[in-house]
Amino acid sequence: MSIFIEGIVVRQSEHENLLEQRAYNFSAGPAPLPREVLEQARDELLDWQGLGASVMEVSHRGLEFLHTAQEAEQDLRELLQIPENYHVLFLQGGARGQFAAIPFNLKGDRSSADYVDSGYWAQSAINEARRYLKVNVVADGRAGDYCAIPAQDQWQLDRDAAYLHYTPNETIGGLEFSFIPDSQDVPLVADMSSNILSGPLDVSRFGVIYAGAQKNIGPAGLTLVIVRDDLLDRGSPTCPSVFDYRQQVAHHSMYNTPPTFAWYLAGLVFKWLKKQGGLMAIREVNVRKVAKLYGQIDSSDFYQNSVEPAWRSRMNIPFALASTELDQLFLAESGEAGFRYLQGHKAVGGMRASLYNAIPERHVDALVDFMQDFERRYG
Ligand SMILES: Cc1ncc(COP(=O)(O)O)c(C=O)c1O
Repeated sequence: MSIFIEGIVVRQSEHENLLEQRAYNFSAGPAPLPREVLEQARDELLDWQGLGASVMEVSHRGLEFLHTAQEAEQDLRELLQIPENYHVLFLQGGARGQFAAIPFNLKGDRSSADYVDSGYWAQSAINEARRYLKVNVVADGRAGDYCAIPAQDQWQLDRDAAYLHYTPNETIGGLEFSFIPDSQDVPLVADMSSNILSGPLDVSRFGVIYAGAQKNIGPAGLTLVIVRDDLLDRGSPTCPSVFDYRQQVAHHSMYNTPPTFAWYLAGLVFKWLKKQGGLMAIREVNVRKVAKLYGQIDSSDFYQNSVEPAWRSRMNIPFALASTELDQLFLAESGEAGFRYLQGHKAVGGMRASLYNAIPERHVDALVDFMQDFERRYG
């Protein structure tokens, strides 16, 4: 719908955005945080909890921060319904740090681990793990150009593997698992960097879940690890202490100074998620947002997404036009219209829109409007 302001016609969604003064930001990560979270952080920046200092400027061992840290963990436990026999760690080093930490912590007396290759991030995890143990790629999406997940009954699982690692959502390829693999007695490990908290999750199916924070959790610099208690005795004696789950559990994630500001912001995001109605409610909105975008992509041959519909990501949606020139034109014109970070990853080109939890539905509506308009003009 168009409206008239000060002599110019603007679309309703653009008008709302002007009032909101927030960009249409579709970044794959670091990604937008909820506006309310940023406002609260802004309001508390100079004087947090009446201390006359920001949360960044006080000891992580002070009662105020300890309370905030515990509350963040408690809220996360509620959101994900994390069972009691799981520890929650707030660490540094990013998901790539965990690519190394996983083999160090879980190898135990085993000689190999199983990995599913579903694309760029799975391969990155595999390459890092190969430095520390033998990796068996038990399912390989390469033959299908990473447009689908190979059926689980074809996976070559090893019952003696230290663990089975997979990447539930491939941020670059735009491919997402619609099921949790059955790893039987082998601990299941998941890199949930780009889809954690996008909906409810049965944590009890996993040995370890890890995620870089910079998409659905908070700012970059924080890494979340959820680890089952019985796995803490498998760590290698040569594991660097900061990555050693046992050490970090014993020190409540404070073996070294934790990323306090990022932890505090993650805590605000967890409160925001609870206020939205929790992860069921969040999933409903996510399903609606993503249906609008795939609906537009599929409405004609103008836009293309090559991932098989059953495996399409709800968080990261790559799409392309008929030629590189048209892609460039789309990026230039969408940039002028206020849409940010729509460029696809350099490994695949084209465009990509990331629709994490904090992206308002009306920003997706605005993007769909723009895509329709672009198609009318160039289709
Ligand atoms: C699925 C996935 N795994 C790992 C990473 C790497 O994360 P980090 O930069 O925190 O190491 C990313 C980053 O985008 C990702 O999307």
